Amino acid sequence: MAELLKIEHITKKFGNLVANEDVSFSVGENEIVSLIGPNGAGKTTLFNSIAGYYPPTEGKVYFQGQDITGKPAYDICKMGITRTFQVVKTLKEMTVEENVMTGAFLHTGSRRQAKKDAEGILEMTGLLDKRNVKGGSLTIIDKKRVEIARAMATRPKLLMLDECMAGLNQTEIKDVMNLCVKLKEEGLSLLIVEHIMEAIMPISDRIVVLNAGKKIAEGLPEEIVNNEEVIRAYLGDRYNAESKKS
Ligand SMILES: Nc1ncnc2c1ncn2[C@@H]1O[C@H](COP(=O)(O)OP(=O)(O)O)[C@@H](O)[C@H]1O
Ligand SMILES: [Mg+2]
Repeated sequence: MAELLKIEHITKKFGNLVANEDVSFSVGENEIVSLIGPNGAGKTTLFNSIAGYYPPTEGKVYFQGQDITGKPAYDICKMGITRTFQVVKTLKEMTVEENVMTGAFLHTGSRRQAKKDAEGILEMTGLLDKRNVKGGSLTIIDKKRVEIARAMATRPKLLMLDECMAGLNQTEIKDVMNLCVKLKEEGLSLLIVEHIMEAIMPISDRIVVLNAGKKIAEGLPEEIVNNEEVIRAYLGDRYNAESKKS
């Protein structure tokens, strides 16, 4: 599998606090990789270093073989990495369609083209019938859909989702899982931060585990759920591999 994203020895310090320490892994083309670990493990910080919200203190980020370490977020997004935020950032006064169009404007100055781009994405994300609804009056699941749709409109090759399933009910989680699989079928790669194991286990090709800033494991979902250190540091009773076999 061709490598799309590769991070090497990423360390991020905030003063004396080491939020990421010597983290290395890669995401292949057309692959879903999930990043898991306890709160404060450094998952969002890693997203920020990759997406160019700030440079890592040490280490390198490569995208399609090119060193993008420390490049500004706008440039990185233009190259094909887009992330969503843990706290949804729906533009309240804009309609759903306009929200999605803001993503498309990364590539086009034409309103007509942006509208056209948005239309296909609204359909794929199940938002077409709500295109004229204001962002502020949406339910949480639709706000998350808008967040993903707007990210899609930037035409990413790698989409990074930060806890986009939190606060959703079972049916809605299934919806987002299906959407992730659909995006993979469209040729995208996904890097997903998520706590809901039942959701990420079936859709992830590989899982990377962070604890206290460090990578403690990496492997196939079935390897991760049976990894003693991962169970101790994070999974505990959260996900019992044995019970899932029955
Ligand atoms: N901008 C920042 N300034 C100072 N400390 C930060 C900043 N961002 C994150 N941290 C700290 O870095 C650690 C990792 O945080 P974070 O990446 O948000 O973890 P996670 O997303 O895994 O819950 C935490 O201790 C957090 O308080
Ligand atoms: Mg986080």
